Amino acid sequence: MTYETIKVEQKGAVTLVTFDRPKALNALANAVLEELTDAFRAYDADDSQRCLVLTGSEKAFAAGADIKEMAPQSFGDMYGTNYFAGWENITRTRKPWIAAVAGYALGGGCEVAMMADTLIAADTAVFGQPEIKLGVIPGMGGSQRLTQAIGKAKAMEMILTGRNMKADEALTSGLVCKVVPAEELLTEAMKMAETIAEMPPLAAIAAKEAVNASYEMTLAQGINFERRVFHGLFGTDDQKEGMAAFSEKRKGDFKGR
Ligand code: CAA
Repeated sequence: MTYETIKVEQKGAVTLVTFDRPKALNALANAVLEELTDAFRAYDADDSQRCLVLTGSEKAFAAGADIKEMAPQSFGDMYGTNYFAGWENITRTRKPWIAAVAGYALGGGCEVAMMADTLIAADTAVFGQPEIKLGVIPGMGGSQRLTQAIGKAKAMEMILTGRNMKADEALTSGLVCKVVPAEELLTEAMKMAETIAEMPPLAAIAAKEAVNASYEMTLAQGINFERRVFHGLFGTDDQKEGMAAFSEKRKGDFKGR
């Protein structure tokens, strides 16, 4: 597939996906969803790729869903097409991916970033769910994921007032794992992705599944699930290699088997 709204590059074992609609501040039109879904599927299916970084421009990760595309839609259009439901496909990516956010991550931009396994922010990053100012509410999971990430009081305040949150507050609130100077964002995100890419790929998928299970299961169910997945990894060559490499004081050479 040829992409018009995103750029996809393979850098070693890391796929770098960049939103590429600069004139619209990377607004998430339906075409972006189609292309991003295709790029993420291709990443998941490619054994040579072990981590993915999703980023935008200096000014905007993405300034939200495309308001111009949405404005004329009726209830029947939205309900009939189950508008935005397709974005959940991105969350079905089995392999790890990171959102690297500089500038605006508003509305759908914030929501897509929150779909990532972890978020790294530039000191210029601005997060927000301003949909209420447009007469709507978050529609790509913001009311759920923001609340899970930063707690009810702050999420409710942001969603009800439409106020934005800067990078330092996003860090102290637990929305992002770290904040770096804007000029170092991509280098830092790639460094993190390269570290993840060196890990045993099956363990990385299993780790994602276990952490994500904490959102869906009770504590007892989640701990049991974790233990079963942990046991299961003893059936992989990479567990044998990882533990042998430790004893032999060398770096593991992981095959994803
Ligand atoms: N949709 C469509 N176009 C957008 C857009 C969006 N979400 N955000 C920005 N643009 C366009 C602008 O219309 C403008 O295009 P024109 O030059 O053709 O007019 C261009 O991008 C540049 O934007 P601005 O001139 O507004 O740039 P600025 O620097 O003055 O302001 C901004 C930047 C504060 C981010 C401002 O653009 C803004 O408020 N954008 C909308 C943010 C928003 O409300 N997002 C939520 C959308 S709804 C949603 O996402 C629903 C959901 O839950 C999924």
